[in-house]
Amino acid sequence: MRKALCVLSALLATASLASAQTPVYLDETKPIDERVEDALSRMTVEEKIKLIHAQSKFSSSGVPRLGIPELWTTDGPHGIRPEVFWDEWDQAGWTNDSCVAFPALTCLAATWNEEMAHLYGKSIGEEALYRGKDVLLGPGVNIYRTPLNGRNFEYMGEDPYLAGEMVVPYVIGVQENGVAVCVKHFALNNHEVNRHNTNVVVDDRTLYEIYLPAFKAAVQKGHAWSVMGSYNLYKEQHASHNEYLLNDILKGEWGFDGAVISDWGATHDTYQAVKNGLDLEFGTGTDGLHSASRNSYDNYHLGLPYLDMIKDGTVGTEELDDKVRRVLKLIFRTAMNSGRGFGSFCSDEHYAAARRIGGEGVVLLKNEGDALPVDFDKPGSKILVVGENAVKMMTVGGGSSSLKVQREISPLEGIRERAGEGVEVMYARGYVGDVSGEYNGVTSGQDLSETRSGEELLAEAVSMARDADCVIFIGGLNKSVNQDCEDSDRKGLGLPYDQDKVISALAEVTDRLVYVNISGNAVAMPWIDDVEAVLQAWYIGSEAGHVIADVLSGDVNPSGKLPFTFPAVLEDCPAHSLGEYTGVHVRDTVDIEYKEGIYVGYRWADMQKKSKPLFAFGHGLSYTSFSYGKPVIDVKKISPDGKATVSVDVTNTGQVEGKETVQLYISDKSSSLPRPVKELKGFRKISLKPGETATVSFEIDRESLSFFDPERHEWIAEPGKFEAIVASASDDIRGKVAFELAE
Ligand code: BGC
Repeated sequence: MRKALCVLSALLATASLASAQTPVYLDETKPIDERVEDALSRMTVEEKIKLIHAQSKFSSSGVPRLGIPELWTTDGPHGIRPEVFWDEWDQAGWTNDSCVAFPALTCLAATWNEEMAHLYGKSIGEEALYRGKDVLLGPGVNIYRTPLNGRNFEYMGEDPYLAGEMVVPYVIGVQENGVAVCVKHFALNNHEVNRHNTNVVVDDRTLYEIYLPAFKAAVQKGHAWSVMGSYNLYKEQHASHNEYLLNDILKGEWGFDGAVISDWGATHDTYQAVKNGLDLEFGTGTDGLHSASRNSYDNYHLGLPYLDMIKDGTVGTEELDDKVRRVLKLIFRTAMNSGRGFGSFCSDEHYAAARRIGGEGVVLLKNEGDALPVDFDKPGSKILVVGENAVKMMTVGGGSSSLKVQREISPLEGIRERAGEGVEVMYARGYVGDVSGEYNGVTSGQDLSETRSGEELLAEAVSMARDADCVIFIGGLNKSVNQDCEDSDRKGLGLPYDQDKVISALAEVTDRLVYVNISGNAVAMPWIDDVEAVLQAWYIGSEAGHVIADVLSGDVNPSGKLPFTFPAVLEDCPAHSLGEYTGVHVRDTVDIEYKEGIYVGYRWADMQKKSKPLFAFGHGLSYTSFSYGKPVIDVKKISPDGKATVSVDVTNTGQVEGKETVQLYISDKSSSLPRPVKELKGFRKISLKPGETATVSFEIDRESLSFFDPERHEWIAEPGKFEAIVASASDDIRGKVAFELAE
């Protein structure tokens, strides 16, 4: 007993000695704010300054003296970017940094399935963690305003509610790994041409109703640990140091407790960077450096120039401490999170996740006479695949989201792998698009050079098509400049490289032509009546070919729905018919007014009498069919703070199992301010066997009925009449039920 007591007291003594020696900031059992205050109190001003700007292309220094580690960031958002040199964009030449490419975020949004968003976040977070990264530079949730925006493929579509619902599980999934997201690009970065000198002019209502909600959801519901300020200006201040966006809205109204990181090279002014909410500066100057070749990172705006301002009294240290607190918190949540495990890289699970997400994101836009699925098991049948995108690698290119992948299955490979014995899969190129395959020193390794003329390629494809049972044209855009690519926009809505001509010629010689569109954007389809089926297949990443073959063959029943409108012509897009868009480079700051206001995407299409979209927001077919019952509501008159539930029965009336996304739109019948015809306020994806019925329910609350009143600067729900609209697409309404919000 005596001995036991001695051991116990010795243990206690050691424990109290240990706790006396462990500084609070290192004690993970202590509340994070307490640890932050402790670390802050131990730092010199010079150390604080060092903490808030980059030390290399993708890292910032910690506080070596205190054992606070560096912070490592990485692009984002579709896979983990390969390693580059310390301060050059060129490849560092590692041989262990080839990742899994997950489907582009447009494809994720098209799944309309939060479970897929969580799986995506969890998986990419694990890849980031394995690679020793603390901050994933993504996801992107800028609203799809124009189909010309070269970066739409990195975002989640045109609707703030859809993007908001999908971004939250992505954020949670990543951060469960102890890796921070950096939600980008905050805010109003809706096209690429002049991205550094566009000053967006937008009214408050449009800002709050359309362009901010997805960011707000990521911050308030997802608890995002960092946000990236965008390149453009708003109210004549660059967004990465913008008083209104960062201080007033993000940190003020939304209570964001994380760090604001500048986009790379988005910081322009030291004083504004100090005062207007920027916490961590990255990528400033040419190639990440100023003209000086030594100590260039020290010369970042939040480096020595800031220190000088403190020393000469131009600014105090209040802002500095706030920035340091936020960056320390980010480091504690990530790099200094001892419980965060090790992650995993290129695992079978990650490939399986990429394939599953891709399979749920592919959208069947048209299927006449059941042209799809294709029977890949019919001996003696001949399938012709045409198009450069059937073979071109799509993970290289497109800007900062470009990847170096361990593998990428091309559509042609996927189809060949899937085709059964005795099925002949032929290939004709049909046209030459872009033969390059390089980004930032990563090469696709493909030789796509071609000596034959366009006429010869066309003639070959047409003659092979005469002999085929089915022709699958795989085309669309690619990741080259002026296609789906950062820092450039598209020149028009049409398909490039004369693809329209090839498609029309093929349509003349076959009655089974399937068009597979690879893109992150809507494209014009002037030949739409001449093709039997159309699939929207995005940029799917490593498993592209498998996913496309899964859907073409019917192994996977398509269940994606469009996260944005496909206008028939560019003029049907409000940013072009009503709003402003330059499209040509200008030197000076250029105002771009979002004159279309809240009428973006289907909110605009719904008001048009004379035009119809080529394919509407929310549209997507299946190899089965679904019938909807009559929607019912449990409360006809909702009390001011009450709720109601709308329910509808949905039945699979076809022959195969399938998934349907049931959409709930709300229509405000009388309001003091004009409102869209209807707005998405709920969706649910269900899986049904043939003949099976499920009841789908949606809750309606004040938030679903509110609009932003710019005069009062708040969201209000006005009493009066409303309608709950249950739909299979924004242009395919299956039932309505009226209700009221009481005084
Ligand atoms: C892009 C960001 C990216 C950063 C770092 C910038 O050009 O706009 O999205 O995360 O570069 O590569």
